[in-house]
Amino acid sequence: MATASEIAAVGVIGAGQMGSGIAQLAAAAGCAVLLLDADSAALSRAVASISASLRRLAAKGQLSQTACEDSIKRIRCVSTVQDLRDADLVIEAIVENEDVKKQLFVELDKITKASAILASNTSSISITRLASATKRPAQVIGMHFFNPPPIMKLIEIIRGADTSDEVFAAVKSFSERLGKSVICSQDYPGFIVNRILMPMINEAFWALYTGVATKEDIDTGMKLGTNHPMGPLQLADFIGLDVCLSVLRVLHNGLGDNKYSPCPLLVQYVDAGRLGKKRGLGVYSYA
Ligand code: CAA
Ligand code: NAD
Repeated sequence: MATASEIAAVGVIGAGQMGSGIAQLAAAAGCAVLLLDADSAALSRAVASISASLRRLAAKGQLSQTACEDSIKRIRCVSTVQDLRDADLVIEAIVENEDVKKQLFVELDKITKASAILASNTSSISITRLASATKRPAQVIGMHFFNPPPIMKLIEIIRGADTSDEVFAAVKSFSERLGKSVICSQDYPGFIVNRILMPMINEAFWALYTGVATKEDIDTGMKLGTNHPMGPLQLADFIGLDVCLSVLRVLHNGLGDNKYSPCPLLVQYVDAGRLGKKRGLGVYSYA
């Protein structure tokens, strides 16, 4: 198994909001990045947004022109899981659905080299259960980035029941190599941050649903009243309402307390395809 400094090739699966940011970070840290998505349009959007983001950093003088262009060149888009066979570390950032993620881990376990570490960027799902889909549970770990990954300073690491000390140490050092601070959570639903954040977002939906105030006043209240950079409804749109709903369902099912039951308004928005900023419509319109 590669140590953090030996991690040279990183596979990133899912080229959406999170996967594209994770690919950018790994490429800027000098890794060869193999970026995979089931949707080729998502790959094209990811390459455009990563290039724009790195060039913005170069224009601001935070990255040399050469480092910027070299980082872009280090990212290769691929179309099958087989293309990840030489990766030292694979980080999956696909849809927040346990069955779909497990199916991916089954495939990854078959095709990646025996020493590869398999990480999930899941927001809430049990790492132990994802690891149980593989024959290498000691090499499966949660590596939870925050949105937007290039800006947010934290990575939350989650050890499954069988994650080895070596894999934990390698992923912790690799996270530091990406310039992030690390916290470590036990494998409980939603881990640390989403266990606390999502009930707040849900409560904001309840406040809107029950007519306590307008969406603007709820958000302004939390921005100016508690110094949050975004109000909770704006943040929910930014995260993706589908992701928020999936996390709340994992909390509700896993912890068995009705306080995590998703607000009907959130459910209705997701049912209507109002997934937030990424779709141009959520609580707010981004047209
Ligand atoms: N990629 C790269 N850089 C970005 C970016 C992106 N997607 N979005 C913004 N930036 C950069 C901008 O270029 C800008 O850089 P400079 O200051 O060097 O010019 C900087 O970030 C600030 O951006 P803006 O001025 O455009 O906007 P802002 O000041 O409102 O900041 C924000 C934007 C950083 C997103 C800020 O609003 C914020 O921190 N919001 C809260 C984000 C948050 O809570 N994220 C965690 C969500 S929970 C989660 O991720 C876990 C989960 O499982 C759901
Ligand atoms: P997204 O919808 O922006 O992107 C997901 C991408 O995965 C899409 O491009 C989709 O085509 C692709 N995909 C779906 N199933 C696939 C499969 N089987 N194989 C290959 N590609 C597949 O989602 P996102 O917001 O980037 O979230 C991705 C993951 O990261 C989720 O597990 C989510 O919970 C987690 N996460 C999200 C945030 C956030 O703020 N959005 C923060 C931290 C973690």
